[in-house]
Amino acid sequence: MNLSQLNKIAQAMVAAGRGILAADESTSTITKRFAAIGVESAAETRRDYREMLFRTGDAMTKYISGVILYDETIRQSAKDGTPLVKLIENAGAVPGIKVDKGTKPLPFCAGEVVTEGLDGLRERLAEYRALGARFAKWRGVIDVGEKPVMPSHTCVAANAQALARYAALCQDEGIVPIVEPEVLMDGAHDIDRCVEVTGFVLKETFAALFHNRVALEGMVLKPNMAVPGKKSHKRASVAEVAEKTVRVLKQCVPAAVPGIAFLSGGQSDEEATAHLDAINKLGPLPWHVTFSYGRALQAAPQKAWSGKHENVATAQRAFAHRAMMNGLAALGQWQADLERKAA
Ligand code: 13P
Repeated sequence: MNLSQLNKIAQAMVAAGRGILAADESTSTITKRFAAIGVESAAETRRDYREMLFRTGDAMTKYISGVILYDETIRQSAKDGTPLVKLIENAGAVPGIKVDKGTKPLPFCAGEVVTEGLDGLRERLAEYRALGARFAKWRGVIDVGEKPVMPSHTCVAANAQALARYAALCQDEGIVPIVEPEVLMDGAHDIDRCVEVTGFVLKETFAALFHNRVALEGMVLKPNMAVPGKKSHKRASVAEVAEKTVRVLKQCVPAAVPGIAFLSGGQSDEEATAHLDAINKLGPLPWHVTFSYGRALQAAPQKAWSGKHENVATAQRAFAHRAMMNGLAALGQWQADLERKAA
């Protein structure tokens, strides 16, 4: 493992004012997204859509540090024959790849899941590296239920162990791991319960990373923010989300980690931006803190595009706008009126 090279890539992924575009939806997930905008999901439409994003110069060259791809996408070429990986590199962003194989039910832990995909991972990583990937992503999923039943220690520990084994394999193959232990915001729990579970999950994850000898300087953490569950009646202000998120991260994430890139997890576009901005306004923080958004970057361009060629320019403007707003939020320089000015 060449740690200085891994650290250089990790630093580039969280460079000031830039963040990651999570465009790694599995075929079934992107098919659901396309269904919502009335677009047929085929290899060609998926390629056209992603090519449109990667050719959005204003977003890619200024605000996007890296792109997470899916197995199909990393092998695809643009209409003119240029590999999509090349489009990303030419824009100055780092190509990455989702390598987990999704979740499976965890026996004897009702309603809980563990992420699979470790078998054969070393060989897949070597292939992805040859295809141009310089970082990878693996997502563990933790659902919040009744205390003390959910999450169970079994679920948190099994996912932490999988994340750590994945991260060690990545580093051994010269790839920077994005370690993503996501506490879902699906439940009816309040923000304090989210903080409690997030702290539990992060502590367990960093213990597993330690036992698996993962070099913290050569990874990026992709956590959830501290937010109430979607079904909670107790809403939290932007200031409370920022303060509680920073507090739990400071308690659990060593300063040796170069960067934290949040997932959006079902927050609205503007919430995800406002929260990231408020978190950075609490700085200076021990790590670079930015975004690795899927839905919060793509919902607007997807809707604007709706599968029609004549909408490409409008969709690219929508993507460039969200990328810029989040780029500013990564510096703590976003303001709500910038959204309204653009509208
Ligand atoms: P969202 O930002 O839509 O949560 O997606 C990020 C991601 O990569 C989840 O694994």
